[in-house]
Amino acid sequence: MAPIDPHSYTDSTHPLTTHIALTFYFDFPSSTIFSSTLISLPAPYSGPFTLDTRSLSITSVLDPTTRNPLPFTLATATDPILGQSITITLSNQSQVLILSKTTPSSSALQWLSPPQTFNKAFPFVYTQCQSIHARSIFPCQDTPAARIMYTAKLNVPRYLSAVMAAKHVERRDPVAGESLGACEDPVWCEEGRVVEEFVMEQPVPPYLFAFAVGELGFREVGPRTRVYAEAVPGVLDAASREFAGTEEMIRVGERLFGPYEWERFDLLVLPPSFPYGGMENPRMVFLTPTVIKGDATGAQVVAHELAHSWTGNLITNKTNDHFWLNEGFTTYAERRIVEAVQGEDRTALNIGIGWRGLVEEMERFKDNMEFTKLKTNQEGVDPDNVYSQVPYEKGFQFLWRIERQIGRPAFDVFLKKYIATFKFQSIDTDMFIEFLKANVTGIEDQIDLKLWVEGTGIPPDAMEPVSNIYSKIVSLANEFKLGRMPKEDEVADWHGQEWELYLENLPKSVEASQVSALDARYRLSESKDYEVKVAFLQLAISSRCRDYYNEVEKTLKEVGRMKYLRPLYTALVQGTGKEEENIFAKRVFSEACDCYHPIARGVVEAILAKYS
Ligand code: BES
Ligand code: ZN
Repeated sequence: MAPIDPHSYTDSTHPLTTHIALTFYFDFPSSTIFSSTLISLPAPYSGPFTLDTRSLSITSVLDPTTRNPLPFTLATATDPILGQSITITLSNQSQVLILSKTTPSSSALQWLSPPQTFNKAFPFVYTQCQSIHARSIFPCQDTPAARIMYTAKLNVPRYLSAVMAAKHVERRDPVAGESLGACEDPVWCEEGRVVEEFVMEQPVPPYLFAFAVGELGFREVGPRTRVYAEAVPGVLDAASREFAGTEEMIRVGERLFGPYEWERFDLLVLPPSFPYGGMENPRMVFLTPTVIKGDATGAQVVAHELAHSWTGNLITNKTNDHFWLNEGFTTYAERRIVEAVQGEDRTALNIGIGWRGLVEEMERFKDNMEFTKLKTNQEGVDPDNVYSQVPYEKGFQFLWRIERQIGRPAFDVFLKKYIATFKFQSIDTDMFIEFLKANVTGIEDQIDLKLWVEGTGIPPDAMEPVSNIYSKIVSLANEFKLGRMPKEDEVADWHGQEWELYLENLPKSVEASQVSALDARYRLSESKDYEVKVAFLQLAISSRCRDYYNEVEKTLKEVGRMKYLRPLYTALVQGTGKEEENIFAKRVFSEACDCYHPIARGVVEAILAKYS
């Protein structure tokens, strides 16, 4: 008995799942999915076989050929992070069938009632499985060390449609017998139901499992790209304009990193409660609607999720301890794509915003330096609670440092070889370092690899970007400290990212009167760009400028993206003498939390608990 991942009950002595066949019956009135999970192993196996579950109700465990029940035990204790393991005893079997249903606390799922959607007519449900939420939909070895192919039959009401991060096979009438026991045949085949069938033919880690069901529409935006969203013409039109440049970015990616292996690259724009900016679900990236604002940033999020098609989805971190392999490589790859399509200045701005983020995380983790390392130890830690810019930005800095050392042409050759060597594998930091040393002779004598990977803080040979606009903005921010506000002509050509960088370089808190004066001139609190608006509101809260609390409340109630919730709630409750703010934060949360995804709800609860 040895775990292979601090976030999973998967046992090193058990075989890893190779294929899963899923059937889902969606019952919207009760917000429940009734499902069957048919797990296949590489060969017949005898002995205990352990899977992860959390907030699932297990109905039965069967031998799929005989339909005889198989002996199993559900762990009596539920771990708050890992959930509840189920151990099934197999005797010379290569398949096992589990019948189960989700519960209201299944953390991967957000169920939206019709009034919570754009069109207000139909319900909507979608998943977010990274990092360890797949186990709340169906039992599985929920570790990225496992790579699994799957088929899925989703039984939904006929007035809705389903999409998945998998290949769509067909939409058709339900067939008796195919539910494998997820529900009774008369229910499965009832009038008004339809089955949407999908297949994922490439092996993927469980955190990349994803679907959405709702009143969906789409627009074609490229030869292998459609953008899907709730069927609202305005939303679909804006999204297709925003993402028109996607095919160009895919081509850049192929030139830099090798063939695009996933056939399609579709985009799904979710309701505003989607807890991330984007999620790299294969074949169909999930996106927040807050990126649709008609400037370069929407494309940047798409560049990031697209880059994961190589770094993350092709090569995956073996466990979350090596998360930087996913996000650091992807941040590097994202910036190479952005550089090719938007130029070096825009990229320098992105690197600069990232640098500020990294410096701030050092402050956040000053009492817990473990999470300033690239290779972390997440034993007993909920990955959602330590999510930070460190794996992204320190990971980026590490790769950029290697690029500077060996030169771009050599680094590009190395990167392509790395991807070709490890594609469809899950790897750890040591495997990367060994590969680096084997392919770049003498690198360990030129860069302190151990310090970069195992050390805390920011290594001395990390670097701020060099560019004219970047330096100009940083020096304007420094002048604000001396009481000088930028003049109209100095900011005439600024977009969201310039303001974001400016605001992030201001001191944490300033005089309340300075906050109001800045806003009176530049109306930042009314910005349509949430990056700007949230950075400004954060400054306003930290400067105790209460004039803006109405705007803070409105913002916390209209979006569920954790990138905005985290800093706003933290600014409200962190620090001394914050009783009034604490009460305000708790009231707003209690009124808004029904609209948040369960993951976001958990993260905000943890912030409020930490400071109350
Ligand atoms: N894979 C992440 C999102 C994620 C990370 C979900 C960890 C769950 C756990 C995704 O690729 C991401 O990094 N999104 C960023 C986009 C940004 C860096 C352009 C986000 O959501 O802000
Ligand atoms: Zn990412």
